[in-house]
Amino acid sequence: MKTIRVGLIGGGVMAKAHSLAYQNLHLYYFPKLPEIERVRLAEVDEHLAQSGAERYGWSEWTTNWRDIVDDPTIDAVDIVTPNDLHAPIAIAAARAGKHVLCEKPLARTGPEAREMAEAAKQAGVKAMVGYNYRKVPAVAYARELITTGKLGRILSFRGFYLQDWGLEPGGLFTWRFQASRAGTGSLGDIGAHVIDMARFLVGEIESVSGLLETFVGHRLLPEPRPVPGEGELADESRDLGVVDVDDVATVLLRFANGATGLIDATRLAPGRKNHLAWEINGDRGSLAFNWERSNELQYYAPDDDPRAEGLRTILTGPQHPNGAELWPLAGFGTGYLESTLLLLRDFYSAIADDSSVAPDFEDGWRICQIMDAIVQSSHEQRWVSVTSG
Ligand SMILES: NC(=O)c1ccc[n+]([C@@H]2O[C@H](COP(=O)([O-])OP(=O)(O)OC[C@H]3O[C@@H](n4cnc5c(N)ncnc54)[C@H](O)[C@@H]3O)[C@@H](O)[C@H]2O)c1
Repeated sequence: MKTIRVGLIGGGVMAKAHSLAYQNLHLYYFPKLPEIERVRLAEVDEHLAQSGAERYGWSEWTTNWRDIVDDPTIDAVDIVTPNDLHAPIAIAAARAGKHVLCEKPLARTGPEAREMAEAAKQAGVKAMVGYNYRKVPAVAYARELITTGKLGRILSFRGFYLQDWGLEPGGLFTWRFQASRAGTGSLGDIGAHVIDMARFLVGEIESVSGLLETFVGHRLLPEPRPVPGEGELADESRDLGVVDVDDVATVLLRFANGATGLIDATRLAPGRKNHLAWEINGDRGSLAFNWERSNELQYYAPDDDPRAEGLRTILTGPQHPNGAELWPLAGFGTGYLESTLLLLRDFYSAIADDSSVAPDFEDGWRICQIMDAIVQSSHEQRWVSVTSG
């Protein structure tokens, strides 16, 4: 198998997650995957670029992402930048004939995501979007139970993604609070994962009714800015950035198969850290999942012994989908690293085998269309059909 040469763009939190997975990929999947060479890290902050390359095991570093996209020896580009850079980088990389793995949400809007999906399709490259949570064995097994009819007809989906870091005192006005950089707030940052779960497990979403709200309207700018020409600190008001994205996204859903749904996503839920949780009810059973107990799946089947009524806990392990190469026993646990390992395994094995990737840029685009419909619905205070535009 030919060695795949990779460039990573962005040197923040997700650069760490992806790099940890790159470092461990062979350990888990030897000899099934080709050799993957970590060629270059691009990060606009020079200190972070240099220290990140050293720490995360990338041979070279640069502050200009074009040094990766324009390098003819690089086969694949992994994008872990703020959302506004996903489209320019992914489109340039695809046009240069490189395979692209791009973090979620694919783009800030549906039309932007569409350009990315079209560029990837025209170039004929593998183009995957980083919805990692669907890869963990508990979620993959839930899909197997649903598609094999164990739950009967699916009636309803209820999904939550709750965090509390948005309430931290002194929380900064980062790119995540700016529509021009992030697209949306809690909706695109964390709600997008729930939308991915809903589509993966239940099916296509047809229409939405959204309610978006911003509770913290101003946040501290990262650094005090000097008054131009005077070298003094700016006044109080100039140290605050105006938040123009949602803090809370509450959404009703109608699926194409008739099921109903509910999504609630916020970064303002005190006590909740990374509470990505869902429950699905069918007319023959129920499933429930909570990422904070990520190797457990709750399952109820009505033909169980009536004296053992209630949801039972399944501990996932090597017998479950995507579990075989992780750990030899159920209950060892699957965490964030494993979810990223599985994402990278699927991307690089698709390149090696010339097979399809999932979730691909078409999925990423559809999720952006659904989010556009949610934004429109909240604005116009009415149900909105998800278009194909
Ligand atoms: N799949 C998941 O579970 C998950 C989790 C967190 C974040 N994400 C996504 O990953 C992406 C990155 O998020 P993060 O948490 O790492 O953000 P971050 O702010 O920690 O890191 C982003 C990095 O990109 C760098 N950057 C900005 N402009 C750049 C440029 N022109 N060239 C190179 N680097 C540049 C920044 O300096 C920063 O270091 C986002 O799209 C986010 O939505 C996904």
